[in-house]
Amino acid sequence: MAGHKKLIIGNWKMNLGVHDASVYLHKLDVAIQGHRDVEVVVAPTALAVQPLSLQVNRHKMKLAAQNFYWRDFGAFTGEVSATQLRGLVNYGLVGHSERRHVFGEKIKDSREKVQAALRNQITPVLCIGETEHERASGEMRDVLHDQLVGGLANITSEEINDIVIAYEPVWAIGTGRNASPHDVEAAVLTIRSQIAHLFGKEKAAAVRILYGGSVTADSASDYLRIKGIDGLLVGGASLKLHEFSEIIKKAHVVVQ
Ligand code: 13P
Repeated sequence: MAGHKKLIIGNWKMNLGVHDASVYLHKLDVAIQGHRDVEVVVAPTALAVQPLSLQVNRHKMKLAAQNFYWRDFGAFTGEVSATQLRGLVNYGLVGHSERRHVFGEKIKDSREKVQAALRNQITPVLCIGETEHERASGEMRDVLHDQLVGGLANITSEEINDIVIAYEPVWAIGTGRNASPHDVEAAVLTIRSQIAHLFGKEKAAAVRILYGGSVTADSASDYLRIKGIDGLLVGGASLKLHEFSEIIKKAHVVVQ
């Protein structure tokens, strides 16, 4: 939406240990001097969230959790809750395609997580996207609808102001296959009209929507210029300091 800073989130997935994450963050901080018109966020391994939260200069960068469990406390061996992440991260990814497709998370899980994030002052980034098969069989609209409406089912029209949607077509994640800007624009229109249906046109126009899927420094500007795109969710390219800082610079230029 016009007027927003562009939001660039680097999702490091299960890469970089605590030490390497800290070194990277330091170098990124140096590399992106002077781009305050871009909101830069990194999502490190859960292990690094706490140390990086002490290191990060929050005027320049923020942290996101890649995942969390939706209960606040309890006998849930191996899980980390949004309550435990509260104060350490500003954002939390919800329903990432790897969570849905590798770990079998259901729409109900994203719904609970969206709410858990909100009650712990963490902005949920609800990730939605169709598989190649779903796209080929003309189900894209329905899939996006189900993931979106299912994920947002219990939130209020006040809370929608604090939610980010990431459109990540599954077939474009980690494959090097680019969704065309035309396809992304169409998907974003679909998403906004579905949000308008739930919360009204004004809210739908204000919700931030990101694109993710094989974004590189070369393709970043094309996506950032798409009408209705407010930023990027970057996987592989966010692990390369030069590439990721170039993407941030491109967002800076697009904003100018
Ligand atoms: P890639 O940029 O590696 O395709 O990953 C996208 C993604 O899943 C970000 O969350």
